[in-house]
Amino acid sequence: MKDTARDNRDLPSGFQAVKDAITSRRSIRAFLPTPIDPQLLEEVLRIAGTAPSGSNVQPWKVHVISGPARDRLAADLLAAHQAREPEAREYQYYPVKWRSPYIERRRATGWGLYGTLNIQKGDHEASLRQHGRNYELFDAPVVLMFTIDRDLEMGSWLDYGMFLQNIMVAARGCGLHTCPQAALANYPHIIKRHLGIGDDQIIVCGISIGYADTRERVNEFQPDRMALEEFVTYHGD
Ligand SMILES: Cc1cc2nc3c(=O)[nH]c(=O)nc-3n(C[C@H](O)[C@H](O)[C@H](O)COP(=O)(O)O)c2cc1C
Repeated sequence: MKDTARDNRDLPSGFQAVKDAITSRRSIRAFLPTPIDPQLLEEVLRIAGTAPSGSNVQPWKVHVISGPARDRLAADLLAAHQAREPEAREYQYYPVKWRSPYIERRRATGWGLYGTLNIQKGDHEASLRQHGRNYELFDAPVVLMFTIDRDLEMGSWLDYGMFLQNIMVAARGCGLHTCPQAALANYPHIIKRHLGIGDDQIIVCGISIGYADTRERVNEFQPDRMALEEFVTYHGD
């Protein structure tokens, strides 16, 4: 991505650290087995909990899953994926009917990722295997699973996104990387069974978290972003 920001000498003090944490976040899809210091992770979650939310409702609930519990969950999710068990998401993430410009962006991201891995168009086996890496949690030592009370409204989902982004940015501040994963919400019944979660909750998504395996090609993939002019409109006089 092009960095057209002003010369760093012009930045207010402290801004560089914030900028680095935000812009060095990217979705990592191969992690090292290196464990995460539980106190560090706790601090990341504590900081993330300072996120704003309408009327300070704080709709987030997090399950931290590591060790044998993580392995058992991943094994069951992967088995469901490999058995092509029908997905049973509790909410619609994507548009029912894709249209321009979103469909092009979606395709560019998918093809870009598979291109990085030399997966050819039409190689369904390889595509399926790569999709299955979601359920292996990309080998991350910890997965965070997020739920929301079923009766909360769209505003709380907006709040939730701020909390999730806080986690991912705070993680960068201490050398951790993340991958947000809506794919994990494809099998909510499996997650609920493992974690003892009732149907009053919706599985929002998961975040795999750990240290990036920088030797893995998949982590080289960095999708483009729109130019500023494409998404900003200024109004003055
Ligand atoms: C809520 C959310 C869910 C996502 N779900 C997945 C997922 O299930 N699997 C995956 O590999 N990436 C997933 N992503 C990552 C996106 O593909 C990624 O954010 C996007 O392509 C931009 O790339 P970057 O995160 O590396 O900047 C998700 C991102 C978000 C914000």
